[in-house]
Amino acid sequence: MEFRIKDITLAKEGKNRIEWAEAHMPVLVALRQKYEKTKPLKGIRVAGCLHVTKETGVLVRTLKAAGAELSWCGCNPLSTQDDVAASLAQDEGISIFASRGVTQQEYYDDIHSAMMIEPHVTIDDGADLTVEMHKKNFNSIRGGTEETTTGVIRLRAMQKAGKLMYPIIAVNDAETKHDFDNIYGTGQSALDGIIRATNILISGKNVVVAGYGHVGKGISRRAAGLGANVIVTEVDPIAALKAKMDGYAVTKMEKAAEMGDVFITTTGCKDVIVDKDIAKMKDGAILANAGHFNVEISIPAIEKQTVHQNKINENIMQYVLKNGSRIYLLGEGRLVNLAAAEGHPSEVMDMSFANQFLSIIKLAQQGDTMKPLVYDIDRSQDQEIALAKLQSMSIEIDSLTPPQKTYLEGFNEGT
Ligand SMILES: NC(=O)c1ccc[n+]([C@@H]2O[C@H](COP(=O)([O-])OP(=O)(O)OC[C@H]3O[C@@H](n4cnc5c(N)ncnc54)[C@H](O)[C@@H]3O)[C@@H](O)[C@H]2O)c1
Repeated sequence: MEFRIKDITLAKEGKNRIEWAEAHMPVLVALRQKYEKTKPLKGIRVAGCLHVTKETGVLVRTLKAAGAELSWCGCNPLSTQDDVAASLAQDEGISIFASRGVTQQEYYDDIHSAMMIEPHVTIDDGADLTVEMHKKNFNSIRGGTEETTTGVIRLRAMQKAGKLMYPIIAVNDAETKHDFDNIYGTGQSALDGIIRATNILISGKNVVVAGYGHVGKGISRRAAGLGANVIVTEVDPIAALKAKMDGYAVTKMEKAAEMGDVFITTTGCKDVIVDKDIAKMKDGAILANAGHFNVEISIPAIEKQTVHQNKINENIMQYVLKNGSRIYLLGEGRLVNLAAAEGHPSEVMDMSFANQFLSIIKLAQQGDTMKPLVYDIDRSQDQEIALAKLQSMSIEIDSLTPPQKTYLEGFNEGT
């Protein structure tokens, strides 16, 4: 076992926090109890590139219990929780290469170190590991999973260009993932990150949310719930209409730029906030990003207009602009919920990682027979996870009677 982490003495705290998360992840824990006996991942090498959070710690423990040999790295320079990394190295004996605040070079070095296990299966969040894997030619590889919208978009583009070399299961596209993790998870944790970094009162603020997809919808709801006036910007007419019908103001970024007290980008696109927008912002405007990469708010555009900058705290950088306004960028424009808070609550990661775990077993067993395409999650897996989650909450639901099923599947009976 090898590792590159910040501080091994943090392991005790990391272990306690992983156990806290575990107590809130009943579906994944039930899967662990089921599969630790049969060990379907015995002899399988898994390389993971996922935010090193306490919830990821629970996934790692579950994969290990199912027999996997693991190596791990972070999928964002600012998202690693160093205590969790220390516990995974010390208590679980995992090869882990991750620490908070790495440079671009260290980030890629860590990915390459994690790859050296020559994996049978990769787990990715954003597709950086998968792209790097395509530059090597490991005969071992059977398949991989992808956790987030941006990663799935990149991998579908690789498939379209005929460049995808091994099958990928799009975990993000499971309903029990994106309809919960992206909406409720990021909705809450992005606001949590902004509040932890700044301690501002959200109530009464104009909060501009760029993008009204899953993440944007979740954040808009939570910001409105805290009393903000939410203003949405979009490029898709249907998403914009949904935002309007959900009760939010909708306008172009160039207009929203003048109104916003807080800006949150959630698009997965680049250059969403650029020079002309920054120039119009109010003195004191706060900028945060919840999309996967730090390309949504143009940092070069901010720097171009800056006369000097001043670090307010670990997660707030003040930029004093040539026009005299001060604007504040949170978490270097990286995922604010991970940079300035702890990422998604364990309860939603329970379902996302249950999907990961079952997909990894599937790839270990069947990956060799699958074509190099991006695959959706089986509907039956989604249903199984939703049912297990409901059961963990002691919630019962109805089921269709045979006549109801026949009625819903037929076309003869109208009345
Ligand atoms: N912070 C987190 O923990 C977290 C969690 C899940 C997803 N993500 C990331 O968040 C991003 C969004 O994910 P999603 O699931 O909501 O995707 P989505 O496809 O559901 O929504 C994206 C929305 O942004 C809109 N959009 C695209 N370009 C735009 C632009 N230039 N201006 C305004 N709107 C624009 C699209 O029309 C779409 O409605 C992705 O990068 C994803 O990987 C982050």
